Amino acid sequence: MSECQADACELLTPMEIYKTLTAQGNKVRALKSENADKADIDTAVQLLLKMKCEYKKLTGQDYKAGCPPTEDITSPENGPGSEDGDDVVDPWNVTTNNAKGVDYDKLIVRFGSSKIDKELVDRIEKVTGQQAHRFLRRGIFFSHRDMHQVLDAYEKNKSFYLYTGRGPSSEAMHVGHLIPFIFTKWLQEVFNIPLVIQMTDDEKYLWKDLTLEECHRYTVENARDIIACGFDVNKTFIFSDLDYMGMSPSFYRNVVKVQKHVTFNQVKGIFGFTDSDCIGKISFPAIQAAPSFSSSFPQIFNGRKDVPCLIPCAIDQDPYFRMTRDVAPRIGYIKPALLHSTFFPALQGAQTKMSASDPNSSIFLTDTPKQIKNKINKHAFSGGKDTIEEHRQFGGNADVDVSFMYLTFFLDDDEQLEKIRQDYTSGALLTGELKKCLIETLQPMISAHQDRRKQVTDEIVQQFMTPRKLDFEY
Ligand code: TRP
Repeated sequence: MSECQADACELLTPMEIYKTLTAQGNKVRALKSENADKADIDTAVQLLLKMKCEYKKLTGQDYKAGCPPTEDITSPENGPGSEDGDDVVDPWNVTTNNAKGVDYDKLIVRFGSSKIDKELVDRIEKVTGQQAHRFLRRGIFFSHRDMHQVLDAYEKNKSFYLYTGRGPSSEAMHVGHLIPFIFTKWLQEVFNIPLVIQMTDDEKYLWKDLTLEECHRYTVENARDIIACGFDVNKTFIFSDLDYMGMSPSFYRNVVKVQKHVTFNQVKGIFGFTDSDCIGKISFPAIQAAPSFSSSFPQIFNGRKDVPCLIPCAIDQDPYFRMTRDVAPRIGYIKPALLHSTFFPALQGAQTKMSASDPNSSIFLTDTPKQIKNKINKHAFSGGKDTIEEHRQFGGNADVDVSFMYLTFFLDDDEQLEKIRQDYTSGALLTGELKKCLIETLQPMISAHQDRRKQVTDEIVQQFMTPRKLDFEY
């Protein structure tokens, strides 16, 4: 067949092209059955071929009558930095004008995921026989894809594995970075399943002004913090892309499969790449997709390609996995399921997430008790009133108060949290007292983390990062 040149359909969505194609197919059939002029039939067939070519270019799928395109991953709604009111959410930016933070219900609609409702939380409790983690009880993990399917299979004794990751862009990790790992550790424990953790040092090299050596070193340093969250070495494999890609033929084969089935047009639509982005960035999403397929880890899954994968991650990573879920069936794999978390707010307020590049916005895992205290007292945005008198009279606003938000992440006792909320709202509890409560929650938590991190020797890191068999029965 001749080269694809048609760009006429460039601005249409896959569904629109699909419909036009179906109409054109019908037209060709009608012309043929009418024994129409050969030249007319040829012209109509030429146009049909051109449109099929364009359809494949845009969706990566072959056009088949009666089979509309699957998840519309290039829909402009889902595009990079796409705006809904003023919320911007993509792998590189998270901002909103709302002091309460991003409107997560709208995000569910925009991304086409499902809400984690009470029914799902109850079901997780029933299946695991454990009280749901506070992140589930409090809607911090708020959205999912296909979690019911994972539970259906698990109830029939079909296990699954967990996949999460981290882009090691500096040595400095902050408390917000721990959220997915704290939750993933809980999932590993209650489901008793293996876990792979991808350290995308390649991604950070491509996106930031860092050397390969720096990125690789950050991988190892960050791995220490991740290990300090308490993962089971017999069930956890942590890998650096820079190392593992080159030594795992199975992993690289999956990367290439994904690369063959996603077009430049698609990644432009999903991630906003432009003609001047380096080609490493353009092909990187295939590398973040590959760990979603069990055949990327033959040493763990004995070459099985049908072990389902569940990915806990912050919602800004969803574009990668919309792409992954779109290609999966086309390369003979199961779509990974997802659990999405909200963002961890900056000290200055929930308009943006905590960022390691702004030291005043973050509480680092290396901070001393004194630094923690000072940062919270000085920078944590308060929903309290300007004077004690006013505060006593009118009460504070917990919905925009960063100290209160942090307590919802880290204070495990539901009753105590609710009492704090009520007392703060009524004015009985002052901002200084609320901050003190947060300081007293974070100081021991971070010291304990630092102690555990000290125990993580080079040998232990090495153990976690060696490709090997894990405890797993399917
Ligand atoms: N891109 C992610 C980051 O920059 C890292 C990552 C890779 C990841 N694979 C993942 C995060 C899977 C969550 C789940 O942090």
